[in-house]
Amino acid sequence: MVAAEAVGVGVAGLRVHCMECGAVAAADGPVAGCGICGGLLDVELDLDRPLRPEDLGVGLPPALRASGVWRYRALLPAIPDEAIVTRAEGNTPLYWDDRLAAFAGLSEGAFAVKHEGHNPTGSFKDRGMTVGVSHAKAVGAKIVACASTGNTSASLASYAAAAGMAALVLIPEGKISGGKLAQTIAYGARVVQVEGNFDQALTLLRKLTAAYDVYLVNSVNPFRLQGQKTIVIELLDQLGWDVPDAIALPGGNLGNTSAFGMALADLLRVGLIDRLPKLVTVQAAGAAPFAPYFASGWETYAPVSPETMATAIKIGNPASTPRARRAIEQTEGFVTTVSDDEIEDAKATIDRSGIGCEPASAASLAGVKRLVAEGVLAPDARVVGILTGHLLKDTEAVIGYHLHDRDGAARGGANRPVTVPARMDALERVLADALHG
Ligand code: F0G
Repeated sequence: MVAAEAVGVGVAGLRVHCMECGAVAAADGPVAGCGICGGLLDVELDLDRPLRPEDLGVGLPPALRASGVWRYRALLPAIPDEAIVTRAEGNTPLYWDDRLAAFAGLSEGAFAVKHEGHNPTGSFKDRGMTVGVSHAKAVGAKIVACASTGNTSASLASYAAAAGMAALVLIPEGKISGGKLAQTIAYGARVVQVEGNFDQALTLLRKLTAAYDVYLVNSVNPFRLQGQKTIVIELLDQLGWDVPDAIALPGGNLGNTSAFGMALADLLRVGLIDRLPKLVTVQAAGAAPFAPYFASGWETYAPVSPETMATAIKIGNPASTPRARRAIEQTEGFVTTVSDDEIEDAKATIDRSGIGCEPASAASLAGVKRLVAEGVLAPDARVVGILTGHLLKDTEAVIGYHLHDRDGAARGGANRPVTVPARMDALERVLADALHG
């Protein structure tokens, strides 16, 4: 382990504590789990002072103020300026859309999506990565590593390149999107295709990082989650700190669910909000160990062998389960599941509205639709869904939905390209169809 002094930046004040046994430790090296009981770690923050909206971002260097993560530094760990690796991440748009509200069964003006696909590498992972890689730099790490279903790998590779650090990425062989693999290779990470699924790749990597001086930046890393908190912080800032009734998000490894719970607890503590929205975590039905755990009143938990077309959330044994449970309990939230067909229909609706997202992201809208139909969410509830990644991931899913028949017929709203001879009359017929069809 390389001491902080090796790079001359002060991490002396950074501490983590274990959510299982309460042990406190200095965060002056890689921190992936409690050294005593192996439990999940939380970063300790000094949030004893109340904060007002106008306090946020005050006195920061321009590069940090330009970031939708570091602008909220008053709510983040005190990583020294000189270690911070930032790409002006965050700053993602919030779109109110009545077509999506109608799809979900919600009233006009009741549903918005926050599009995290607008981050530098195309997913919310950049928010966590700027904090994780900055901490890695502050403690003098030489090599950073993750296991990934695609987005984390591209994000880590980009931020490691920005920091001038080596990156090692484990991916389930043949199971991640070509675009994400291309990004990761292009940014220069060392890519290892593991003959197994995501859960197996992460287990293997955790063994490696426990034995060698390799900094693990999967979302079990508590600094990653600190960055991911800013999805919710920036969302509430955009809403003028007016708390919605519910925030819905897809659940895979459950880092985001955990980070959202932490963000809300922090905002309540410093007085920026005065009540909590309900968190709604939506899992793909074929990769859903968290939903039955919730439904059993947190009595029975069993990992599953994951199967879903939503590659990002194809995870059978989420590493952040206890933290995510805490988030759902503290917000009196819900966990639900949706089928791949429901995900695909929600995605087609989001895409057709001109917003677009990757399949896993659409689980948030599909889950809201299901909870409205079940009467769990009222039709006039104000709900925000998080779109976690960009339409340009898993493009094969788009092509499959629009171009290929299902049970001998095109899917609803299928949009098929036409081929014409290179003649004006053929093109004119297409124009006539487009105008009248
Ligand atoms: N949505 C997208 C687009 C993701 O990439 C992920 C996770 C999730 C949702 C689930 O978030 O794990 O915090 O519950 N992707 C990881 C990866 C696992 O490797 O990129 P979670």
